[in-house]
Amino acid sequence: MFNTGITEKFRQIRTPFYYYDLGLLNATISRCLQEADRHGFYLHYALKANSNAKILDLISSNGLGADCVSGNEVSMALAHGFPAGRIVFAGVGKTDDELRLALGSGIQSINVESLQEMEVIHGLASAMDKKARISLRIIPNVDAHTHRHITTGLEENKFGILPWQFDAVLDRLRSLDRLELQGLHFHIGSQITDLDVFKSLCDRVNEINSWFTEQGFTADIINVGGGLGVDYGEPDKCSIPDFESYFRIFSDLVELHGRQQLHFEPGRAIVAQCGSLISTVLFIKEAVNTSFAIIDAGMNDLIRPALYQSYHKIQNLTSTGKKRKYDVVGPVCESSDCFGKSVILCETKRGDLIAIRSTGAYGQTMASRYNLRDLAAEVYSDGI
Ligand code: LLP
Repeated sequence: MFNTGITEKFRQIRTPFYYYDLGLLNATISRCLQEADRHGFYLHYALKANSNAKILDLISSNGLGADCVSGNEVSMALAHGFPAGRIVFAGVGKTDDELRLALGSGIQSINVESLQEMEVIHGLASAMDKKARISLRIIPNVDAHTHRHITTGLEENKFGILPWQFDAVLDRLRSLDRLELQGLHFHIGSQITDLDVFKSLCDRVNEINSWFTEQGFTADIINVGGGLGVDYGEPDKCSIPDFESYFRIFSDLVELHGRQQLHFEPGRAIVAQCGSLISTVLFIKEAVNTSFAIIDAGMNDLIRPALYQSYHKIQNLTSTGKKRKYDVVGPVCESSDCFGKSVILCETKRGDLIAIRSTGAYGQTMASRYNLRDLAAEVYSDGI
């Protein structure tokens, strides 16, 4: 991904910064759309993965809808060309202001996560003299076999409505006349690499969808969320996720009723591989049994390794020296500020450029100003 021309250009830019390869992003979006279109599926890009203006403009101009989890994400999606009618809004804790914004802007669906939320939305919609289009976010109790922090479809998770609550939900729906049930929504977790997990999801979706139809509620939309994982180990070999196999599973297994549509909410799979965090080596410090390569990016720029012990490939872009092992760490005052232990890099020295790969998703959106550090800038391949 990085030839010497790009590396020379990187040298002129203040680090740390996020670099986005728009060629790869375009290719990823095209492949995803091509495979989804084959089956007539609908896509909503999950803004939480990356909400940079330029990336949103590109994704919306390709005709994807948006999946939002805050009022600000809804506003951002609207400001960057996603039509209101293609925006869905989920989240266990939406404030009244956020719900009013959603109702006022006429988005496609508010994904409701509890009975109480249904009642609150009904009250707000009545006060605004509006109808609220809702989907029920359902806990299918399918284990995503991913990190426990990003598992969302199990009974013990805070998200969604449990099957034993369905009767009560339908009961209330019959009397809350401001609510229009539009869809059933599922999302079981993120960075799912075992595709069999999605087969289990399809089975549960079929059972639950049939149950609702039998009760006289045929939802127009079945939304199966996001979650397709990317290959953090081989970002160059597997730069575009296997959308073909992923969508084929749903096409083969989900039984739609009548004119029901199948919707998806990919985030990571679209943007992860196009981004890299570029940083400069500040110091090399020899220590007990290891050498620390101390870089100018910190856990405030990329928190995934500290929070989920996640692996990101790390490369020295400016050395061809012989291979050595380093613990690659940031400057933040915590020992968790570590991007990788025993990372094999070409002989590394002060001033070398380091790339932390596959950071286009949940990198910049999860950054903070911890230690009062500046936020990393964003740099695009068409701008250098
Ligand atoms: N839909 C809903 C309702 C979600 O909660 C999420 C992600 C997605 C779609 C998109 O999932 P994706 O396709 O990106 O897997 N910060 C974590 C990931 C948290 C994901 C939260 N929900 C990480 O860095 O791994």
